Amino acid sequence: MKHVIDIKDLSVEEIDSLIKVAKDIINHKEKYSHKCDGKKLATLFFEPSTRTRLSFESAMMELGGNVIGFSEASSSSVSKGETVADTIRVVGCYSDIIAMRHPKEGAPYVASMKSEVPIINAGDGGHNHPTQTLTDLLTIECEKGRLDNLTIGLCGDLKFGRTVHSLITAMSRYKNIKFVLISPDELKLPEYIKKDILEKNNIEYVETKSMDEYMKDLDILYMTRVQRERFFNEEDYVRLKDYYILNKAKLENAKKDLCILHPLPRVNEISTDVDDDPRACYFKQVRYGKYIRMALILKLLEVK
Ligand code: NCD
Repeated sequence: MKHVIDIKDLSVEEIDSLIKVAKDIINHKEKYSHKCDGKKLATLFFEPSTRTRLSFESAMMELGGNVIGFSEASSSSVSKGETVADTIRVVGCYSDIIAMRHPKEGAPYVASMKSEVPIINAGDGGHNHPTQTLTDLLTIECEKGRLDNLTIGLCGDLKFGRTVHSLITAMSRYKNIKFVLISPDELKLPEYIKKDILEKNNIEYVETKSMDEYMKDLDILYMTRVQRERFFNEEDYVRLKDYYILNKAKLENAKKDLCILHPLPRVNEISTDVDDDPRACYFKQVRYGKYIRMALILKLLEVK
């Protein structure tokens, strides 16, 4: 039995094969509509979500399966003091696969050690978000036609943004990837990711506070929200929240085939005047998320 807690739980070959299946699902939806008949997905969301939870749920429904779960800790027995380990053992009796989001880093890993069904990490604190990364990879593959030879700008909250951490980890395994890390000093990428991922794999990267400095070089611009819920005080959040706002003017020198991504939700970091630009791919990205999650559910349930 396989769990997906970190993006590295999937090899590059496994990711390639998930992308292949997701593309096949996009082209032949009807072929897949009964693949998970009689199966149940549980979504255990101890932290707010719109896209990730609904994307998992619609993915399972489009495979013919059913969905159970909760969308806030207060409506589950956690509010009575139940541990994650016990909750997982119980939910495993009712479901075939579990997608779990938790504010504590490592909680899905703990769950996976106790679980009798596959666990998917749907985001753990400021740590990882592997299925958002699968979404990002499918989007990049479909929009750019490749996952190698790319200069990727990541902009905003690189400290607490779990989607950024997982995406860097994943992209570091492809050839000739360069990163431009754009953030204020307070929100720089954690040292452990620089050391263990970027430096260990000899990946080229630069850190800058400026959104404009490298704009013309970027193939991908990955914007992120400042993660208010991870801040210790509101003043710091207020000071940093509007540090970067991408608008039409800022894109003047950008490549014609730049691909602008955002895991969403957006707050102010992309002005709505960018939405009509053909380079804005963040709403398409949402759609890709459902298909790659369908592919992942099929893989973990070992459905042929
Ligand atoms: C992201 C998350 O939850 O980390 N959202 C998502 O899953 N698409 C990004 C965010 O909340 O800023």
